[in-house]
Amino acid sequence: MSFAVAADAYDRFMGRYSVPLAPQLADLAGISSGQHALDVGCGPGALTAELVRRLGSAAVSAVDPSEQFVAAIQERHPEVTVRRASAEHLPFPDQAFDAAMAQLVVHFMADPVAGLREMVRVTRKHGVVAACVWDHAGGQGPLSLYWDAARELDPNVEDESELAGAREGHLGELFEAAGLHEIEETHLTVSVEHPTFEEWWEPFTLGVGLVGDYAARLDPERQAQLRERCRERSPAAPFVLTARAWAARGLA
Ligand SMILES: C[S@@+](CC[C@H](N)C(=O)[O-])C[C@H]1O[C@@H](n2cnc3c(N)ncnc32)[C@H](O)[C@@H]1O
Repeated sequence: MSFAVAADAYDRFMGRYSVPLAPQLADLAGISSGQHALDVGCGPGALTAELVRRLGSAAVSAVDPSEQFVAAIQERHPEVTVRRASAEHLPFPDQAFDAAMAQLVVHFMADPVAGLREMVRVTRKHGVVAACVWDHAGGQGPLSLYWDAARELDPNVEDESELAGAREGHLGELFEAAGLHEIEETHLTVSVEHPTFEEWWEPFTLGVGLVGDYAARLDPERQAQLRERCRERSPAAPFVLTARAWAARGLA
């Protein structure tokens, strides 16, 4: 399980990009005071925190299959309703929310259309479902530098470019298949400054996500080669990494 990791490791690896992404996804979903919202695949809470800021804890619910991340949400936001569950089986009644969102999650769902259908089911009629996935296919995700270097060393590497929603237009197709209406597609962009190469690299060694699974299969020598290949490919420090996520919203 790629996300059976400490919340702190996730924050350092991906949270540095997903925290600035969250207000943009909340804006796309039109989240504003008075609504009840669900964060699907909440992780340790990048989007949850943004929803709490806008709606208050009592109006926010969250789910994630990772035990560690559910515990982190319980600790960070004790009044948020959080459940250990996957998108494909949401433990909520029909039409319970004004909006349901999945930030950087659709590509990890075992059945993305079933997951989105569940999000539609728990959203009120004409409520909003929104999601985003990094542009792994277009090489504009925050992990692209790493995967490009890995591919140089091993052309057969299984990166994240083939995953659901990671290419332009695919989220829209999935939204349509899930029965959403008035679908709009766009992209969201974050820029994060990295003071040194080591600050950028170190979280890649923490075992988080598919990168973590991949790195765990490499012997130390191969890992060192990959690090040096990344160093050669990265801009001189300090450098700003700009990443793009494909995003879509639709009405239930
Ligand atoms: C890249 S993280 C995104 C976390 C958080 N939304 C964020 O933006 O930082 C992907 C999350 O999806 C969760 N996940 C994986 N499969 C899932 C599924 N089928 N349904 C819901 N969440 C899932 C993982 O446990 C992980 O927390």
